[in-house]
Amino acid sequence: MQGQNIDISKLIASQKPGYALDQRFYTDPDIYALEIERVVARNWILAGHVSELPEPGDFKVMNVAKESAIIVRGSDGQLRAFANVCRHRGSLVCLENRGHTRKFTCPYHGWMYDIDGNLTAARSMPDDFDKSGYGLNPVSFDVIHGLMFVCFSDSPPGLASAKRDLAEPMSIFDFENLKVAAHRSYPIPANWKLSIENYQECYHCVTAHPEYARMHTLMVEGRKRGRLQGHMLEKMEACGLRKIEIDRIDTRAPEGEMGYGYSRTAMFEGYLTGSRDGSPVAPLLGKIKDYDGGASDFVFGAFSFLLAYSDHVVCYVFTPVDPQNCRCDIYWLVRADAKEGTDYDVEELIWLWDITTESDKTIIVNNWKGVQSRYYKPGPFSAMENAERTWTEWILKELARP
Ligand code: FES
Ligand SMILES: [Fe+2]
Repeated sequence: MQGQNIDISKLIASQKPGYALDQRFYTDPDIYALEIERVVARNWILAGHVSELPEPGDFKVMNVAKESAIIVRGSDGQLRAFANVCRHRGSLVCLENRGHTRKFTCPYHGWMYDIDGNLTAARSMPDDFDKSGYGLNPVSFDVIHGLMFVCFSDSPPGLASAKRDLAEPMSIFDFENLKVAAHRSYPIPANWKLSIENYQECYHCVTAHPEYARMHTLMVEGRKRGRLQGHMLEKMEACGLRKIEIDRIDTRAPEGEMGYGYSRTAMFEGYLTGSRDGSPVAPLLGKIKDYDGGASDFVFGAFSFLLAYSDHVVCYVFTPVDPQNCRCDIYWLVRADAKEGTDYDVEELIWLWDITTESDKTIIVNNWKGVQSRYYKPGPFSAMENAERTWTEWILKELARP
């Protein structure tokens, strides 16, 4: 593993356990290239909810680093993903982010593909040109109880364990029958790992997120935490929820499979959901009969994190754009039968995580600036940064895996 200027195996071996990553993991172009190969392109990334594409011909485009995939519902009603790369000379085929179509026409020389990925027209090609050999290349695609995932590898990690173990918690919220009430994309000018590291720790919550910190208890420790959890657990069953804890996250993933996790954490007294004043912002989800004052965390692999309140779900997806830029996509899910304006108001629904993400963006960019300094040296993680620590160890493990 010899990059141009760097021996990556040596660098991985020299990484001190329990400490932040060496500067070169954030700034070295060879390491970024290796990350794309071994971490980003090899793993599943959340691409939204199936309800976004209800009809044959409905499509959306997902961009990750230099890759672009078209996710489209085919003429047989099946969802599929294709590389958004023309089989003629490689132009992007679809330039719109989402829409409905009967065919995709390459903007360069007009080759046409149907919604099942077949090449159907190519002007002035020789008589013996066989169109059937030039369909759009398939991209790995799968659905976990209503959530769409894409992986830019032909041999992606297995999803069987995640589907099986998350079936119960996901059925409580009835993930299959949710819809996207809002979607926002936040460009973050920083190395992508800093964004995901930030999402995974709440050491910064008290200082950076006054709105979040007044309702969420992740930063509360010791006995007080136990008391708050206890109150929620007492209410849980009557509210239609159950105590479930799953931790097959990152380094604890089943062999050859995507990691995943589930847990539920109490909110402060008086907060029923993650809203401005803690009052409901949408109808209760799935099997939930009342508010237990908790919020559930779901983890799907290394890039996708969900926070499920009793009345809505917030899905976070972090993806690299280039070594110095990444993007955070957030989907807010509500019951499929909820009506905008009557049952929920988008501004109220997105309020908490919109302002929280904006303030995260500021601290991530400050972090990025400091990490590039000649004075940066990796410091030790606190006890509140365990998830980030595990994720970092997983990254190093994946980078070392040929
Ligand atoms: S590159 Fe698409 S038609 Fe030529
Ligand atoms: Fe944050």
